[in-house]
Amino acid sequence: MTALASAANHLDDLAGNLSSLSDLHAYNLRVDPGNFVLLSHIIQVVLATHFPDDFTAEVQAASDKFLAIVSAVLTSKYR
Ligand code: HEM
Repeated sequence: MTALASAANHLDDLAGNLSSLSDLHAYNLRVDPGNFVLLSHIIQVVLATHFPDDFTAEVQAASDKFLAIVSAVLTSKYR
């Protein structure tokens, strides 16, 4: 979540901000890319459960878009 907060503060350079994490997940951990979709959904369910008043439809749409872009960056170095 700290990494996500950092990414949220660097929306103009997500690739640069997440570069080392992208290397880690692709080259070292070799996480199956499909898991990023699952984790993104889980994060949103947890946010909605704990912050039902704040997690509006707009927040959900923005969260989904943000996590999809983060996931795309973190899986961009797979080969
Ligand atoms: C939103 C997407 C994700 C973010 C922001 C994220 C972020 C991180 C961060 C910050 C670390 C710690 C790096 C360090 O120790 O320097 C990490 C480690 C790790 N991540 Fe992710 N991750 C994501 C998705 C995933 C997914 C989908 C999986 C697998 C299902 C995964 C598996 C792991 C594993 C196995 C480690 C190493 C844990 C350890 O060293 O004990 N990550 N991730």
